[in-house]
Amino acid sequence: MYDLTVIIPTFNEEANIRNIVLAVDAVFRENSLNGQVLVVDDNSSDGTIPAVTDLKRTHPNVDILVRTEDHGLSQSVADGFRHAASNVFVVIDADFSHPPVLIPRMYEEIKKGCDVVIGSRYMEGGGIKDWPLKRRIISTGATFLGRLLFPDVTDPVSGFFAVKKSVVEDAPLKPRGYKILLEVLGKGSWEKDKEIPFEFIDREAGASKLRLKTIIEYAEQVVDISLYSFTHHESAAWREWKRVFKFGIVGLSGIIVNLGILWLLVEYALLDKNIASLIAIEISILHNFVWNDLWTFRAKEDVRITSRWQRLIAFNLVSIGGSVINWGLFLLLTAGFSVYYLLAQLIGILVAFVWNFLVNRRVTWTRK
Ligand code: GDD
Ligand code: MN
Repeated sequence: MYDLTVIIPTFNEEANIRNIVLAVDAVFRENSLNGQVLVVDDNSSDGTIPAVTDLKRTHPNVDILVRTEDHGLSQSVADGFRHAASNVFVVIDADFSHPPVLIPRMYEEIKKGCDVVIGSRYMEGGGIKDWPLKRRIISTGATFLGRLLFPDVTDPVSGFFAVKKSVVEDAPLKPRGYKILLEVLGKGSWEKDKEIPFEFIDREAGASKLRLKTIIEYAEQVVDISLYSFTHHESAAWREWKRVFKFGIVGLSGIIVNLGILWLLVEYALLDKNIASLIAIEISILHNFVWNDLWTFRAKEDVRITSRWQRLIAFNLVSIGGSVINWGLFLLLTAGFSVYYLLAQLIGILVAFVWNFLVNRRVTWTRK
């Protein structure tokens, strides 16, 4: 039994495979780790397989799994999970886009109690070197979608991560496409995660195999994980649906507060109704803030904006932004597209709701 298994998925990587295996093995030795290297190859037609077979002779901790069915990066990694001879897995690309020197740190964090440790390109200290604009745009879109499900993870589609065997062994993974990490986060059983920044360096040798099909598969995967979370309430994505639901309830009750206060102020306090409306709006914003702070987001020590007053100001500003969106859409749809005014307002409300939820989650109640 090894301390950890470094899984390297490969498809036609003869230019890199020898060097990456040796680099990982050197990291093992420098850090006194009893590590296994498991290359999971999709029956490459180039010299990848002979190169690993050759290395195996001098390095007993190096192994190769050659697959002949169900070709695919994610499928290969999932197969690696099943064949690894340890309880900690690290997944790394063969093309030196991910620095092997970070492997011991990832392993340390797992030993300290993390279930998943992610190499992140999108947190402070991380980055991407030499990427064409097209790839940056695709990656930004993929990351945005992934963060809808896992808002606290900055890089949910990273190809460089460590995971405990227990997270994935019973998970009904449906591996496909390139984003195996998203599948692990969506279906695995985990609680504690940690991200480590790294700089992604684009490959020098060989070509990337990312295709349009990969993007479509990814969109399907996001939908599948969302649906999965509806029936598996222990999943991390379900926590997010609960928040959306609570945020909605608070919003609806805020409307009642708004109308009630307005009515009281006009009928009993005999206030000018224009002034009364403003007061009612602000009181409903306060009402929504308090409930979201205590209930929806349960803001505790781990929120970045530690002062409740500052969170209140942020929430207020976001709410004003939401109202502007609501009104702007109303004007656009009624005047520009002659949409029935009530329908236009309803669309405005829904878009503003999405805005309010996402921005508040990302700003007002974002975690450290
Ligand atoms: N077994 C197997 N089967 N391996 C594959 C396959 C496949 O069909 N396709 C690619 N690989 C291997 C490559 O040989 C390489 O080791 C690794 O998977 C990454 O492949 P690249 O083609 O270089 O991926 P990329 O650089 O476009 O994408 C990387 O960055 C993404 C983040 O933007 C990967 O790390 C992705 O997993 C990651 O999501
Ligand atoms: Mn690559």
